Amino acid sequence: MGIQITPSILNADFAALGAEVGRIPGADWVHVDVMDNHFVPNLTFGPAMVEALARVSPVPLDAHLMIDDPDRHAPAYVEAGCGSVTFHVEAAAAPVRLAREIRSAGGRASMALRPATPVEPYEDLLPELDMLLLMTVEPGFGGQSFLDLVLPKIRRARALMERHGVETWLQVDGGVSLETIERCAEAGADVFVAGSAVFGADDPDAMVASLRSAAET
Ligand code: DX5
Ligand code: ZN
Repeated sequence: MGIQITPSILNADFAALGAEVGRIPGADWVHVDVMDNHFVPNLTFGPAMVEALARVSPVPLDAHLMIDDPDRHAPAYVEAGCGSVTFHVEAAAAPVRLAREIRSAGGRASMALRPATPVEPYEDLLPELDMLLLMTVEPGFGGQSFLDLVLPKIRRARALMERHGVETWLQVDGGVSLETIERCAEAGADVFVAGSAVFGADDPDAMVASLRSAAET
């Protein structure tokens, strides 16, 4: 697989989400930010809304759970139709068990790290994961500035993946735009979430294409 672009609907029009996902047919996934007002100070949607979106989305859903107790809630998002489910390691009680549960329910298992969470303690978990998400802003809101301080961690994560010989995708999320995507790709990321950059553009699908070609160079 090559570069993948996963627009986030966090900054899309919540009153017209079905139509909004229809504006990005060239995306690889639609990134759905689930927030619970506890793990992060913002509240979005739950499994019923995600299930409705999965029914109309032209591409599979990539759920990013910014919630407490993902051990209890994550499997519901696979059942709701998400192809990929990401939980935060800072919130998970038993990340290995949870990753295995997501996989056995038929989803791709993914684990996210906040900007200050180091990757090295989790290197032995990489074979359990289909994707590792490195946050490049503090999770909670769209439209924040990209944190360059995460770039060395992206490089270290890519090196660990190579050392372990795993095919784990490396996703970055937060402040990804035409200005920052090349830095992320150069550091070793291959899956890119972009919220405000895509839905703030006049032509979101054209922006998906531009981001893809910037990441591929
Ligand atoms: C932030 C979310 C992101 C957000 C990205 O907590 O996880 O997915 O939508 O938005 P931008 O691309 O605007 O930083
Ligand atoms: Zn996200």
